[in-house]
Amino acid sequence: MTPAPSSTAARESDETVADRRAYRSVIERLSKASVDKHWEPYRDIPWDDPEFLVDQTDPRWELPDVDKLGGHPWYRSRPPETRARIGLWRVATAMKIGLQFENLLKRGLLNYAYRLPNGSPEFRYVYHETIEEGHHGMMFQEFVNRTKLPVRGMPGPLSLIAQVAPWIPLISTELFFVFVLGGEDPIDHVQRKVLKDDREHHPLEETIMRIHIAEEARHISFARHYLRNRVPRMPRHRRLMLGVASPVVLGVMAGIMLAPPGPMIRRFRIPASVVAEVYLRNRAAKQEIRDSVARTRELCVDIGLINPLTRRIWRAMGIWSDPRPAR
Ligand SMILES: [Fe+2]
Ligand SMILES: [Fe+2]
Repeated sequence: MTPAPSSTAARESDETVADRRAYRSVIERLSKASVDKHWEPYRDIPWDDPEFLVDQTDPRWELPDVDKLGGHPWYRSRPPETRARIGLWRVATAMKIGLQFENLLKRGLLNYAYRLPNGSPEFRYVYHETIEEGHHGMMFQEFVNRTKLPVRGMPGPLSLIAQVAPWIPLISTELFFVFVLGGEDPIDHVQRKVLKDDREHHPLEETIMRIHIAEEARHISFARHYLRNRVPRMPRHRRLMLGVASPVVLGVMAGIMLAPPGPMIRRFRIPASVVAEVYLRNRAAKQEIRDSVARTRELCVDIGLINPLTRRIWRAMGIWSDPRPAR
């Protein structure tokens, strides 16, 4: 059994990968790290340990005061068991949407790998990533099952549209890896924030998040290095198309990842005025969406995807923030 990391794994930092040799060595390092440090849900998580069992009324599921919904007087006036159930519902929904996104991602990675030539370092890495995502899917679904809550993931129509995602690599691998970051970065951002909030978390939730953050650091790193290596050498017209499509993909994805779950709203009869206040008209909620794509946005600036036209699209999607002046 490999114990989950005892602290939150650090993010991977970007290296200069303009030349092919430097890029190749980053990919090989990531592949080696996947062999040296990885987890398997049914070997490394003690699901049946009494400490790890999920009780819907466990107060550790309650949302904190600093949370947009958790701090709302409507939520605070619910009985403790309802507060716990709502908190757990949200965690479970995030995991369900996460596993659906990763399902699309795995299919896309395999479509990408299918066409790779012999000797390509990406082939091995992408297989490592697909296997890790397979483990994440099992880990998230097992958690959802144990909550015994009837959570659904993405809303039906969206889930239907999302089925195009695995085919994006056939049109543009660069856009596919922007899509990858669009899902992985907001999840990583939220999970890191939860672990940093100094509250006592349920050990099962904490174990799952630490394992996930540690492995996702590599996935995010791969996507970023791929884009850093490829985008600057794309023909101008293709780079412009990528620059236009990226904020649309990122805006939609961040919205999905951080949106309030409809079934939860109905089940707990959360009043429309509360939903509007907490999620729709809330400046902090909008800032949260902008923050969740901050690292990808900075990457897009670095690799030349921002110009006056594309910046407008970022703004229209509600995910633009002017870069902070260098200190
Ligand atoms: Fe994952
Ligand atoms: Fe991932």
